[in-house]
Amino acid sequence: MTTLKISLGLVAATALVAWWILPSQRLRTIESSAAKASSPVSAVSAPCKALGVASCAATACHGNFQEKLPSSSILGLGDLRPKDSWKTSYLQWTNHDRHAHAFETLENDRSKQIMKLLGSNIPATQDTRCLACHVNPTIASERTHVALELHREGVSCEACHGDAQAWRAPHTSWTAATNREAEYTAHGMTKLYDLGVRAETCAGCHVGAPAKDGVPMRDVNHDLIAAGHPRMNFEYATFLRKMPPHWREKDRTTGAERLKGFEADAWRVGQAVVMEAHLELLKARSSDQSRPWPELAEFNCYACHHDLKPKGWRGPTMPAQSFGTPVRNRPIAMTNPGTDELLKKAIDETNQVETALAKSLSVKSPHLLAKTEEAIKAWKNWRESLVESSSNAVRMRSLFERDTLAWKHLTWDQAADLYRAMVAIENARQHLVGQPNPEAEERLSKLYEALQLPRGVVHFDSPVKYSPDDVRALFQEWLKK
Ligand code: HEC
Ligand code: HEC
Ligand code: HEC
Ligand code: HEC
Repeated sequence: MTTLKISLGLVAATALVAWWILPSQRLRTIESSAAKASSPVSAVSAPCKALGVASCAATACHGNFQEKLPSSSILGLGDLRPKDSWKTSYLQWTNHDRHAHAFETLENDRSKQIMKLLGSNIPATQDTRCLACHVNPTIASERTHVALELHREGVSCEACHGDAQAWRAPHTSWTAATNREAEYTAHGMTKLYDLGVRAETCAGCHVGAPAKDGVPMRDVNHDLIAAGHPRMNFEYATFLRKMPPHWREKDRTTGAERLKGFEADAWRVGQAVVMEAHLELLKARSSDQSRPWPELAEFNCYACHHDLKPKGWRGPTMPAQSFGTPVRNRPIAMTNPGTDELLKKAIDETNQVETALAKSLSVKSPHLLAKTEEAIKAWKNWRESLVESSSNAVRMRSLFERDTLAWKHLTWDQAADLYRAMVAIENARQHLVGQPNPEAEERLSKLYEALQLPRGVVHFDSPVKYSPDDVRALFQEWLKK
């Protein structure tokens, strides 16, 4: 089976050519950023919560040198990983995973440029705003010698698995008979086997998160984006597929392999979790008086950033319909929820957040806050109602079929999200029916090409060539088969 072409090129998507906002915005943005730069290094000496990679990477543990390359199955999710994958986890991470380089990124020219534009007088490697996601978040604001050393490891084991102090020793004696649920809880190991918990873990850095339990706020807002940070554009199934797996995918509470339809499950859970994470972030941004407002990253980028084509792809109604981030317009929210009352409720509540946000442009309103909280609850309720194994890729595909054909105006963001959804669902479907479908893959490749951003030396480019009609035609072609 061959790997479907995946679009993380779409992920790096940012935008732009021209806009209609006053230049004074730029000044406000930069001043407020400078004021927020965090305090310089302090020599506090508290014990470090994390142990660091060295405590995982011994050859008898996760640093076995029989290196295995990442799986090349269509799932790419560890299904073809050998049963003893755990022995080489460290090597997978250090040799193939971008997370291992997340700290080095803060030392590169692009980061230097970002800091310069933010008006910061400290380097990114010392700025808690950046460390919050580019190292283990729990030690991002620590400045002890140990912590400074551990920062250099980037997004390492404990950033995802949880700080190991309490679980490192006990976990080495767990067997197939161990009650993992109870052990993970008792020792504070993150339950990454749970698709929802795993998605929350990723979303903490790939969407952002409010400050909590000593972890600073993680926020790529418009100030950071305008200074040169890639826009956050996270879709769970896509990112999981793209991350080099250092594990064998299974339900660790039962030991059962988890393959069939996996990606469709991940996609669906991801829709809820990403929505929750975005709303949590909106809540934090709108309740903290020291943060910029309106927060431009909450709105559709292309409402302000136009390209110069006379008949652009935004369509005549674009500005009016464009409030609300692309993320709140995701396919799940556009899919007719049918009889799923909980999903319907979550979408309704989110639409009300949209309305409240549009009315709160000049002031952070308690009404917006209340609406946001309601919507978060509603998404959580829907997520809890999902039984992991019950998503049916074949049925999901037919829902898309009906709904895509019904959409009048497909923005680039919606099309990109839809594309990612289709890849996930197609992967799941092929797994369910047990055979590859090269024709479908070829059609998806065409969509991928149609959604590509122009590549070049420039980091931030716009989908200038995007044509909704062409893309719709390609979607329809795909759905016909
Ligand atoms: C502690 C923060 C953090 C967590 C948690 C995290 N990531 Fe990341 N991730 C990053 C950072 C920062 C980068 C960028 C690294 C770089 O290139 O410097 C990144 C990069 C990636 C990339 C590469 C993107 C690209 O454009 O090539 C993938 C894929 C990815 N992460 C997937 C995941 C998944 C899946 C999870 C959850 C299982 C996850 N990440 C959890 C911070 C995090
Ligand atoms: C909310 C979490 C978060 C925060 C805060 C954050 N980053 Fe990132 N950063 C990421 C993630 C995730 C990626 C990978 C994006 C992707 O590929 O989707 C990334 C990517 C980058 C990249 C591009 C890497 C590449 O592939 O070239 C640079 C540069 C960067 N970050 C620098 C910074 C700097 C400097 C700061 C502080 C001013 C910062 N980041 C703050 C999460 C964050
Ligand atoms: C970006 C997030 C992330 C980072 C960083 C990360 N892991 Fe993982 N790891 C995961 C996920 C997700 C799983 C799958 C969880 C599951 O199935 O229970 C996993 C599973 C594992 C497993 C189980 C393997 C198996 O097949 O039984 C081991 C062992 C492991 N990781 C070790 C490490 C080590 C060691 C590091 C650091 C060198 C590390 N991980 C870094 C996300 C991460
Ligand atoms: C309400 C209008 C508005 C929205 C919505 C908006 N921006 Fe901006 N953007 C601006 C303005 C005004 C500037 C110039 C001031 C500044 O640098 O903050 C700017 C600057 C930028 C820049 C820097 C351009 C340069 O060459 O210096 C980037 C990149 C950017 N925005 C990306 C985005 C992305 C991505 C989104 C969506 C997540 C977005 N913007 C949403 C108005 C907007």
